[in-house]
Amino acid sequence: MKIKSICCIGAGYVGGPTMAVIAKKCPQIKVTVVDINEARIAAWNDEDVNNIPVYEPGLGEVVAEARGRNLFFSTDVDGAIDEADMVFISVNTPTKTYGEGKGLAADLKWIELCARQIARVATNDKIVVEKSTLPVRTASTIKSILNHTGSGVNFQILSNPEFLAEGTAVDDLMSPDRVLIGGDQTPEGLNAIQALVDVYAEWVPRDRILTTNVWSSELSKLTANAFLAQRVSSINSLSELCEHTEADINEVARAIGSDSRIGPKFLKASVGFGGSCFQKDILNLVYISRSYGLDEVADYWEQVIKMNDHQKRRFAKKIIRSLYNTVNGKKIALLGWAFKKDTNDTRESAAIYVSDHLLFEQANISVYDPKVKEEQVFVDMDYLNTRSSEENRKYIEVVNDPYEACKGAHAIAVMTEWDEFKAYDWQRIYDNMLKPAHVFDGRNILDREKLKNIGFQVYAIGSAG
Ligand code: NAD
Ligand code: UGA
Repeated sequence: MKIKSICCIGAGYVGGPTMAVIAKKCPQIKVTVVDINEARIAAWNDEDVNNIPVYEPGLGEVVAEARGRNLFFSTDVDGAIDEADMVFISVNTPTKTYGEGKGLAADLKWIELCARQIARVATNDKIVVEKSTLPVRTASTIKSILNHTGSGVNFQILSNPEFLAEGTAVDDLMSPDRVLIGGDQTPEGLNAIQALVDVYAEWVPRDRILTTNVWSSELSKLTANAFLAQRVSSINSLSELCEHTEADINEVARAIGSDSRIGPKFLKASVGFGGSCFQKDILNLVYISRSYGLDEVADYWEQVIKMNDHQKRRFAKKIIRSLYNTVNGKKIALLGWAFKKDTNDTRESAAIYVSDHLLFEQANISVYDPKVKEEQVFVDMDYLNTRSSEENRKYIEVVNDPYEACKGAHAIAVMTEWDEFKAYDWQRIYDNMLKPAHVFDGRNILDREKLKNIGFQVYAIGSAG
């Protein structure tokens, strides 16, 4: 079967970039990305590609090339589903905030709504692709909904998890390490797998397209994120030991990363990992393991999250302790609010939690981020629900100029590894700060010796002095 028309439900950080690249690489396929969020769709359709809702290096160019040719963004969900041979579900699957599994399980209400909508609307056979990250065995729920329509329409369900990382999404999509497709091992299932393999094979070498059964595919996605996050928590746990022993975490990371069995990637000590997925997916793994009675497995993975929470907390405590145990009324500049560089995504960013700790001590926080808007900072803080939004606005300011953020501050905390921070005029920043002037480098990106020579008191994650 040759796919002619694709619909993707969910125009977020995954649906938008993924479909833009499919459309670019497969001009013969009509790709329609739909969402119930009208403002988001309007932004994807903005004439100026600088205004599309997801900031990713190179994405504007890809969208500009394909949009209006074979790439469309729309709020007509029913119309796009009906027209498509293949429907991707790429909606959000956040941690549940209510009921059974609250705080651990993935909330699948949007997935179920999509399945019901597809079931209601479809008038011809379709391949439904899980692009969202889902707990293992979710496909059976989707299948059950789709197979009880009574409409005579046949559905095949595939799992095709996405492995892109934000900030490098376009490169990751253009040349992925692998594409994973899981499907039923029946003749119909294998045909559906082949149809999706053929889409990716337009630009991905065949030996990088892995096919498995549905359950292996679903579980591999959670496992990949768990392993990646575990590496960050592992290096972060040792960063604390370094600070007590005069070992240096960068040197340790280089030494162990040179072992080809360990490898050099994902060994950067930091103020803690953020992003919408690591925590959510591990909590989900913990929940699933417990639901099968596998407490040792659950406890093992839960520790990755505990270590990450500890890392964020101890960074905030380090700031407070260094400023003579009180930050009350003191100005602290936060450089960076996004959860990593080259993205405007702030979900679960360490900056949010560090700010929360500092606000409990009544600090005044000044935030600068090159891509995050003021309103987003307040949305993130209000969402925590630990204080009123008036209080958040009283103690936090968001500015457009890093020098203004640091002016008159007692301390600067580097929260995101944006490249531009390295190129600042640090002498000028120092001259305009209160003394002693502190820098807390939560990303280990600044030149420590240079800053010390200027006169800064410098703390970098994982180094004693
Ligand atoms: P997102 O919140 O940015 O986007 C999801 C979109 O789906 C939203 O715009 C929302 O309005 C829309 N939506 C929800 N229900 C809908 C419905 N019934 N009909 C139409 N639209 C609907 O989320 P995201 O970051 O793109 O993540 C989507 C999924 O992909 C999640 O399961 C996530 O775990 C997974 N994932 C994310 C990343 C990432 O880097 N963000 C990477 C790999 C996998
Ligand atoms: C991560 C995975 O890398 C993707 O493969 C996956 O598709 C995605 O989650 C997802 O499922 O959502 P992402 O969260 O976008 O991608 O970004 P990462 O590069 O993985 O960084 C996650 C967090 O870990 C960031 O806060 C980053 O700063 C931190 N990190 C990463 C470190 O602190 N140290 C490192 O060495 C690497």
